[in-house]
Amino acid sequence: MKSTSALSTLLLLLPAFAAGDAAFEQRCSDLDGSFNAANTEVILAGYVAQGTNITFPESAANSCPKFTIALADMCRLRLNVTTSSTSSVIVEVFMPTNWASKRFLMTGNGGLGGCIQYNDMTYGTALGFAVVGHDNGHAGDTGLPFLNRPQVIKDYAWRALYRAGKIGKRAINHFYPGSIQKSYYMGCSSGGRQGMKAAQEFPEEYDGIVSAAPAIDFHGVLSTGGHFVQAVGPPGSPTNLNLDQWNAVHQMVIRQCDGIDGVLDNVLEDPMKCQPRPEELLCGPGQTWASHQCLTAPQVESVRTIYSPIYGNGGRLIQPRLNPLTREFLGYRVSYGGVPSYLSEGWYKYALFNDPAWNMATDFNLNVIDRDFRKDLFEVSTNKTDLTNAKNNGTRILMYHGLSDGLITSENSYRYYERVSRDMGLPSSQLDEFYRFFPISGLDHCYTGDGAWFVGGSVQYSPAGALDIDPSDSVLMTMVKWVEEGIAPNTLMGRKLVGGVVQGARAHCKHPLKTTYKGVGDPNLPSSWECRTA
Ligand SMILES: *[C@@H]1O[C@H](CO)[C@@H](O)[C@H](O)[C@H]1NC(C)=O
Ligand SMILES: *[C@@H]1O[C@H](CO)[C@@H](O)[C@H](O)[C@H]1NC(C)=O
Ligand SMILES: *[C@@H]1O[C@H](CO)[C@@H](O)[C@H](O)[C@H]1NC(C)=O
Ligand SMILES: *[C@@H]1O[C@H](CO)[C@@H](O)[C@H](O)[C@H]1NC(C)=O
Repeated sequence: MKSTSALSTLLLLLPAFAAGDAAFEQRCSDLDGSFNAANTEVILAGYVAQGTNITFPESAANSCPKFTIALADMCRLRLNVTTSSTSSVIVEVFMPTNWASKRFLMTGNGGLGGCIQYNDMTYGTALGFAVVGHDNGHAGDTGLPFLNRPQVIKDYAWRALYRAGKIGKRAINHFYPGSIQKSYYMGCSSGGRQGMKAAQEFPEEYDGIVSAAPAIDFHGVLSTGGHFVQAVGPPGSPTNLNLDQWNAVHQMVIRQCDGIDGVLDNVLEDPMKCQPRPEELLCGPGQTWASHQCLTAPQVESVRTIYSPIYGNGGRLIQPRLNPLTREFLGYRVSYGGVPSYLSEGWYKYALFNDPAWNMATDFNLNVIDRDFRKDLFEVSTNKTDLTNAKNNGTRILMYHGLSDGLITSENSYRYYERVSRDMGLPSSQLDEFYRFFPISGLDHCYTGDGAWFVGGSVQYSPAGALDIDPSDSVLMTMVKWVEEGIAPNTLMGRKLVGGVVQGARAHCKHPLKTTYKGVGDPNLPSSWECRTA
């Protein structure tokens, strides 16, 4: 992979630190003997040159990344940290030769995983961070390792993050002559949940936390996997829609709602204003999908269900509706395609019921949701709204969520933000001091989308062209400016990245302001938009 212009320019601005230094390489391999910590075993310690294809043969048996390309000369340290007599966490520490920044970055996981986000790690090293990743207590992205092992669930809920952060910082401070000056966190989805867990429970570990599309209110989020599969039924059943039909629904939402924000660009700036009417797609007498690309009444009803809130026993609101611009394959595959979500099923089966015979199609009902909320294993719900400790520790929290997320509704993040506001008794002007939320139009779940989706966040770096984008206004460096220079962000810059080419940009406004078209000017230019009260 080529070293990119924007990145290398940024790196040249930093003073060189021992690049190509034989002593650095030696000190790195010596970590095998020199780094000693309780319950910790060094699996590997070695120098890796920029451009090296680092492979992960241990991921052959699961869905985790098989390789990553080093984006900086660095020392790689791989540890096995024992967290109990029945659990352990694999921790990776990437330490670039050039560490003038003295910054630490912790990366997150995803799904039920299990997978180290190596691309986030290498990107962090390219920006001069010493970076840590961990496997969250088990390999792979399924719930199977939870079976009969509550300690593995505890690692997943919070302990792996906490312990990996502690040991990673210790290794970094041991390895370099200097010590960490500022600590950051960045993660999406389950990784976003982990970031909020840190904000809620151990904020003193971080100066800045970037949390994207967080799977907070975990039990509510997981309930969609059971609720939707019952609503749409298995593929081929009368209530089910195939991917082409969901694409037709997507086009219908665009027809009905794209104009609300004043610009026809396949992007909804304020999906909450969109109330789709799927009956538009209803077949007339004698019409079929094959002849008229229309839907049957049961299919139309499925669409209504997906775009409606989920209520549980006693009329309790379990989840707000899914974003009305669902198209992405991920959401279809694991959420509303009719195949039981491996995420929800994996959790219910192996964690909540601890019973391999448990079956989503036959055993899911509202009582399951109640049970999940009630047990709240190791407080995985991550729904605590008192962020006083974060505030008092000076920890900054930047949350963002894609407004076309087809897996975790963005309304969850609005809901959490407003709950924090009420529960702490702080209007947004005061939350601004330490907690800011940016809705990102045209961003799907964590990455890709039809809008200015690229904000330089977690798991966004792999597409072609992404590494060419100037990282100085990325969400991570925006957080650095907030923490280290006191420059708090009012907008978050997003780029519309299509097939490796940047086709536009938009400065996404901080909630509760709305990103609003001025009425004139090229909508692909940030200057044609402004932040307004609704
Ligand atoms: C890195 O190595 C793996 C395993 O040999 C290979 O599958 C992959 O294509 C390589 N990646 C690049 C960019 O060369
Ligand atoms: C990590 O250590 C545990 C013991 O705590 C052991 O069971 C496990 O196999 C080790 N994992 C690796 C990859 O070495
Ligand atoms: C920082 O947060 C911790 C909890 O993680 C809390 O015990 C401590 O009191 C907080 N520090 C300040 C200065 O509030
Ligand atoms: C958080 O989750 C727990 C466990 O599910 C629940 O008891 C509690 O009411 C929830 N808190 C909020 C504020 O939703």
